[in-house]
Amino acid sequence: MHQALAIAHPNIAFIKYWGNRDHMLRIPSNDSISMNLGGLTTRTQVTFESGLVNDRLTLDGIETSGNALSRVGALLERVRAMSGIQLFAHVQSENNFPSGTGIASSASAFAALSLASATAAGMQLEERDLSRLARTASGSACRSVPAGFVEWQAGMDHSSSFAVSIAPPSHWSLVDLVAIVSREHKCTGSYEGHQLANTSPLQACRLKDAPKRLEICRRAILDRDFEALAEVVELDSNMMHAVIMTSNPRLQYWQPATLAVMLEVSRWRKTGIPVCYTIDAGPNVHVLCESKHAGEISMQLTSLPGVLEILNSHPGGAARLESNPVDD
Ligand code: DP6
Repeated sequence: MHQALAIAHPNIAFIKYWGNRDHMLRIPSNDSISMNLGGLTTRTQVTFESGLVNDRLTLDGIETSGNALSRVGALLERVRAMSGIQLFAHVQSENNFPSGTGIASSASAFAALSLASATAAGMQLEERDLSRLARTASGSACRSVPAGFVEWQAGMDHSSSFAVSIAPPSHWSLVDLVAIVSREHKCTGSYEGHQLANTSPLQACRLKDAPKRLEICRRAILDRDFEALAEVVELDSNMMHAVIMTSNPRLQYWQPATLAVMLEVSRWRKTGIPVCYTIDAGPNVHVLCESKHAGEISMQLTSLPGVLEILNSHPGGAARLESNPVDD
């Protein structure tokens, strides 16, 4: 049977990917660095079946069509071309976290789908090839393929653009406390956002300064230097949102509760608590700290007005295969 089941984690970018050199292949304008989110998981099973007349997608138990199915179909098409398999597939995928809220569900979704579909089609791809494959479906998905702390080398073309692990999950017991302030789907997806990046006059400055921020971030991770990490992570997040808010048309992902959490986190850091924030393309705030401070910070976050829930994640492993099948 042409079937495989894979799991992958989403990731939170410390140095963000925003803007492409090549939109079709998702060759990004800058390198980026992220951490896989171990507590959050996508499980995806792919079955290539002879009776199917087109690809099918079941998301969290619900038969899904439209844009989500087209994106999945495009990746499956690539896998069919690489492997020679000619069958359509049934994809069953489930998340243990809410999607479309700035927790990049597309990253874990397409990392898991790449591994499951390549394996179900009879291929054993190397990590770099899997990362390249996942990238073509969702840029940040290439960073959910390797383990732990990961850097995506932007490269110039399909073969030179992939992600590698720079430190394993055990390297540093960081915690990402995701303060959920909204569970609604964002109105403008990242794909549209990336296409607008160059319309902001700030994007050129952001890109010019990126090598410096990447170097500081990489060093901070390798040295487990939280203070240095906190400064560069907040700066990078603010720079991306400055580009987002000054593009044409302008986008805006923050909500009042987003800003309230950002201000509190900055205030806590000024009083000596080692903590910082970063925000992806959504309203929820990723609050980073070392595990020894997570209990206290989580309690303080819960008491803030507008915070609905806290999701707790430690550094996660690589995308991997599993053996227990998904129930129909
Ligand atoms: C703000 O990878 O979601 O989360 O390639 O269109 O799927 P697509 O975009 P996506 O963009 C992620 C943007 C970000 C920053 C980041 O994760 O680096």
